[in-house]
Amino acid sequence: MDVKISESHEAMSYHAASQVAAYVRARESALICFAGGDTPLRTYQILIEMQKKGRVNLKDSYYVSLDEWVGLGYADKGSCQQMMRDGFYSPAGISESHICLFDGLSGDMSEECEKVEAFIRRFGGIGLAILGIGMNGHIGFNEPNGSDREGCFVIELHEVTKRVGQKYFPNGVPLSKGITIGYKTLEKADEVIYVAGGEKKNEIVKLILNSQPNPEVPATMLKNHHNICFYLSGMSFI
Ligand code: F6R
Repeated sequence: MDVKISESHEAMSYHAASQVAAYVRARESALICFAGGDTPLRTYQILIEMQKKGRVNLKDSYYVSLDEWVGLGYADKGSCQQMMRDGFYSPAGISESHICLFDGLSGDMSEECEKVEAFIRRFGGIGLAILGIGMNGHIGFNEPNGSDREGCFVIELHEVTKRVGQKYFPNGVPLSKGITIGYKTLEKADEVIYVAGGEKKNEIVKLILNSQPNPEVPATMLKNHHNICFYLSGMSFI
């Protein structure tokens, strides 16, 4: 487990983006898994800036999104799909055939799970995953004491996830279920990146760093991954 502390969100994002860029440069067609949420957005913008300067080509890689709120789609500002399309896929010029996203509006969630699992299988697994950390220690929608199945699944969201998730939706939306890639599949990635910053994440990050893997705090389940790096900023306890 590697831990890289930065003095600012900007520096943390730059370091995380540099690892992604190095991974992409070394492979002809990598499969990358990107989390939505606020924390990694600047990392994605920096990757786009690197591409504009000719320092990395993001367009030959493939991308699978980590999760989605069940019942929400692209038209819902703050959905994972909206954040990822507008925050990365569109400005980076990634073609539709290189992207796989959960459709939270689909009438058949098992079909959505199968679609994403099949996409991951095509590449023999995820290459690199960037994951944010929830206030309850979730990764994607791998919730505290939730399912530990392989592949993808729908889950009843933890109370903290429902409450904190409202930050993405200023007008308020009902949040009850999520669809996600399970951590058993994420742990098979070649490289895992955690990004977390700010005072509000201090307590949960400290708990993760100081705990043995346990399902009560899902982010701990990957901490013994053979190639995991925590990119952190604003951690006053360190
Ligand atoms: C979102 C996701 C979530 C977030 C986590 C942290 O796609 O997978 O697990 O990464 O809730 O969110 P932020 O970065 O907004 O604090």
